[in-house]
Amino acid sequence: MKIAFVGKGGSGKTTLSSLFIRHLADRRLPVVAVDADINQHLGAALGLDDEEAAALPAMGAHLPLIKEYLRGSNPRIASVDTMIKTTPPGEGSRLLRLQEDNPVYDACARTVTLDGNAIRLLATGPFTESDLGVACYHSKTGAVELCLNHLVDGREEFMVVDMTAGSDSFASGMFTRFDMTFLVAEPTRKGVSVYRQYKEYARDFGVSLKVVGNKVQSEDDLDFLRDEVGDDLLVTVGHSDWVRAMEKGRARPFAELEEPNSRALRTLHEAADAAYEQRDWERYTRQMVHFHLRNAESWANARTGADLAAQVDPSFVLSEDLQAGVPQPARPTPQPA
Ligand SMILES: Nc1ncnc2c1ncn2[C@@H]1O[C@H](COP(=O)(O)OP(=O)(O)OP(=O)(O)O)[C@@H](O)[C@H]1O
Ligand SMILES: [Mg+2]
Repeated sequence: MKIAFVGKGGSGKTTLSSLFIRHLADRRLPVVAVDADINQHLGAALGLDDEEAAALPAMGAHLPLIKEYLRGSNPRIASVDTMIKTTPPGEGSRLLRLQEDNPVYDACARTVTLDGNAIRLLATGPFTESDLGVACYHSKTGAVELCLNHLVDGREEFMVVDMTAGSDSFASGMFTRFDMTFLVAEPTRKGVSVYRQYKEYARDFGVSLKVVGNKVQSEDDLDFLRDEVGDDLLVTVGHSDWVRAMEKGRARPFAELEEPNSRALRTLHEAADAAYEQRDWERYTRQMVHFHLRNAESWANARTGADLAAQVDPSFVLSEDLQAGVPQPARPTPQPA
């Protein structure tokens, strides 16, 4: 299952991602955690010290390796240079699984142990001033998007992505790549304005979006969120002393998280589970093709000097029944009836 945490800067995306990851790890479920946020803090929220967090490999720096691996022997992708973040998989491509060893994880992932349970952590690498609001080809999250588009994940295994609700994720189509998107909102006008913008983009693509209220302190806060987001409000989280203790460097075992917050995490887990029934791999594949064609036309054809529409394999549909790690076999091209 692919789960995103998005929201305004400072709303608590990283905090809630890290708590959800701890919750899943506590249930011994396989997790690949991905830090794709502008401020790379997920490692620290998962208990890494400054030195360990700084030593995390940057996916952005391994983009050529990631592309080379995923491209496999796909004849529609002439070279790694013409592979962009939206290039979809097809015949000859290699796919990824959450639970496997592969060169991408070898290069980019680090194992983090949470109360005795190991998970994998990936990070895009720090964003610089020049990454913000720049053209798509510089996108730091391109490596994550490629991985999402080549991932064949099943039930009860999770990729959890901590990311920014920035314009970049709308242009690329990244915002459509998840089974469930948790939008973290504080009970403020700015907090819910990001929700409205996201909802607007999400509507046309059938994105499953739920709001998680954070730092909700009073009945008035709750009323405000209910008024502003209605049925999209899934659950709220209050101030957590457990989180604050961790910020002070006095981390406590996950079992000591406040009960209302543990309950909120169970609600998130249930919502993520329920999203499995909504899965539609054909739609998922169609949307990645849609955004690829859009990116090809708007900048990538000019940038690469190739017609990137030709990268689309019309007979390919991503699905969890496909085998990862090996070049995908050819399929007969569907003939018009
Ligand atoms: N429920 C909570 N209880 C206590 N502290 C919280 C809670 N939620 C968030 N915080 C604190 O608020 C601050 C901002 O949270 P966090 O870093 O998770 O937000 P973010 O949305 O990831 O921010 P950024 O946009 O900077 O990445 C942190 O210091 C975090 O510890
Ligand atoms: Mg953050």
